[in-house]
Amino acid sequence: MPNASPPSFAPGSVALVGAGPGDADLLTLRAIKRLQEADVVLYDDLAGEDFMSFLKPEAELVAVGKRAGHPSPRQDEVSRLLVAYARRGKRVVRLKAGDPTVFARSDEELRAARGAGIAIEIVPGVTTATAAAAAIGASLTKRGVARRVQLVTGHDVDGRLPGDLDIAALADPAATTCVYMGKATFPALVERLIAHGMSPATPAAIVESLGSPETAIRRGTIAEIAAVLTTDRPHGACMIVYGLALAGS
Ligand SMILES: C[S@@+](CC[C@H](N)C(=O)[O-])C[C@H]1O[C@@H](n2cnc3c(N)ncnc32)[C@H](O)[C@@H]1O
Repeated sequence: MPNASPPSFAPGSVALVGAGPGDADLLTLRAIKRLQEADVVLYDDLAGEDFMSFLKPEAELVAVGKRAGHPSPRQDEVSRLLVAYARRGKRVVRLKAGDPTVFARSDEELRAARGAGIAIEIVPGVTTATAAAAAIGASLTKRGVARRVQLVTGHDVDGRLPGDLDIAALADPAATTCVYMGKATFPALVERLIAHGMSPATPAAIVESLGSPETAIRRGTIAEIAAVLTTDRPHGACMIVYGLALAGS
């Protein structure tokens, strides 16, 4: 089903909106428009709070955060809420950190809405990988060095390093890799990368809490970043990027 942007946000429909990394000025104009029109906003805690300034005073706010270690509604409950609000004729924004199509379980919400005959659109956002590249001042691609960018999750449903990762692809020196949800498992991943022949000196960076005053950037090699994460794991959400494209920038 195409995602042609409807000219207006009809009552009884849903918009899956990307909030970007958290700074209000990285929201798209379309995202702001949907927020201004919304009757209900279901939002993740990683979406930040800056978006609230765009809402109508009477807009209803529903927190459905999924931060690791904190209690949060189950995904099927979030999908049920989307459908229930839309059926009551509300304009429903489902606001997600970054981009809604990247590690955000939007497929389940699309299926739930479409299954209930509810119109649903996707409003893209700046995903954390590209926001992290901007924060560290590096390009994810580099002519003749990094021809490929790969986005990978560092944890499976149980919070462990997924057993079916393509380690050869992740150890490819001609790729830049962006690891989402990887701060707990990156040391285990690096062990496997090095065993597969990747140089421990491959440049890497970890960017914590993008889009907030607590943003912290640490740069080093994959071996150094893995060591930091073993002894001193950051508290905030972290994006890890590694690859030769980071060298010299
Ligand atoms: C469930 S995924 C959501 C990804 C999101 N849809 C995106 O496009 O960036 C959550 C992971 O995204 C990354 N992330 C999201 N917000 C972040 C932030 N503000 N700073 C650093 N990493 C962030 C972290 O790796 C976090 O574990």
